[in-house]
Amino acid sequence: MRIAQNIDVPATDIKALAKAAQQKKIDLVVVGPEQPLAEGIVDYFESIGIPIFGPCKDAAEIESSKSFAQSLLKKYQIPGAKSVTFADYQQAREYVVKQKPPIVIKADGLAAGKGVVVAPTTEDALAALADFMQAKKLGASGEKVNIQEFLTGREMSNFVFTDGTTVLPFISACDYKRVFDRDLGPNTGGMGSYSPPVFGSHALEKKVFETIMAPAVKAMAQEGRPYRGVLYGGLMVTNSDVKVFEFNSRLGDPEAQVILPRLKTDIMDIIVAVIKGKLGQVKIECTDDACVGVAMASGGYPGSYKTGFPVSGLQDVDKDVLVFHAGTKVGSTPWEVLSDGGRVLTVAALGKTIAQAREKVYDNISRIHFEGAHYRKDIAWFK
Ligand code: AMP
Ligand code: GLY
Repeated sequence: MRIAQNIDVPATDIKALAKAAQQKKIDLVVVGPEQPLAEGIVDYFESIGIPIFGPCKDAAEIESSKSFAQSLLKKYQIPGAKSVTFADYQQAREYVVKQKPPIVIKADGLAAGKGVVVAPTTEDALAALADFMQAKKLGASGEKVNIQEFLTGREMSNFVFTDGTTVLPFISACDYKRVFDRDLGPNTGGMGSYSPPVFGSHALEKKVFETIMAPAVKAMAQEGRPYRGVLYGGLMVTNSDVKVFEFNSRLGDPEAQVILPRLKTDIMDIIVAVIKGKLGQVKIECTDDACVGVAMASGGYPGSYKTGFPVSGLQDVDKDVLVFHAGTKVGSTPWEVLSDGGRVLTVAALGKTIAQAREKVYDNISRIHFEGAHYRKDIAWFK
């Protein structure tokens, strides 16, 4: 089923996006990626009267400035990774050599997933500092660095919806960032995810909500930066503890593909209530079913890759399986789909158990083909 039309406007050209939204008479805009949020797309669209879902620029800083997020954690005593921010390369070096590795070096600004180095040795940490601060490999984003303590535990992402005042807990998911099975190879935007986390519980969700997510939203309001939209907490969970190591100002990718299918409440009711500041009138309900999603990527991704290959087998996918197109485009005929990005599509399925959902995803993804395609075989696989 074709339900969307791509319009070719760069995601960072906010004025051109607004013009396109006006021309197409778009009733509601939902912002996916972080860059336009950081550049103030919500502020601009609101100023010209286009309804839009997402945080304003100064609230989106919770993702676009690691040092701002870290100072918020400190000021409001929200449990997080200990960290220090440096704008001076020599001072950053002096600090790093005094720490016991592993240590985490983060570019302060947005870096499309390339701004975090988990350095196993002091040499690796110093190399990351040189890359970011001296060679300026990430441009202005790496001029300041946030150096974090290395947290151990199990990683999960938690999501809440908020209109700035009311905060409603949603659910959690686990993301697989490395490109190859068994978490090998370089980091990617995310090769798959599943929800709910196997190590999750109501008690954990409650703790995350009460100690991290709700206090963070409250803190943003107190800072005069009311946060509206969906807030994503990147969390490290141990037996006794849970800490946040980053916030994102949006639904993650591929987390969105496994949490939204579990939402029973109509998402439009939530979005409209957030925009109108009436989230208190909404109840969020989710299915207990599990959801698993696996991304199919172009050969070579996350390095360089070729696009433009026909994607076949989409019509063979079971009706209750979801195929989310990310890097695809329509070919020379309306029914021809071509690969057009690094992560091309995500196949997601619900199941009574994680194992059922996983089997369904892998059964269906094997019916889809394009030249060079690869995907992880171990998403949501537990021995
Ligand atoms: P981020 O872009 O902040 O999500 O970081 C990318 C990945 O680096 C995360 O998914 C974690 O696996 C890892 N990471 C980030 N911060 C920390 C930390 N303080 N301790 C351990 N691992 C981290
Ligand atoms: N999958 C992680 C993210 O969207 O940032």
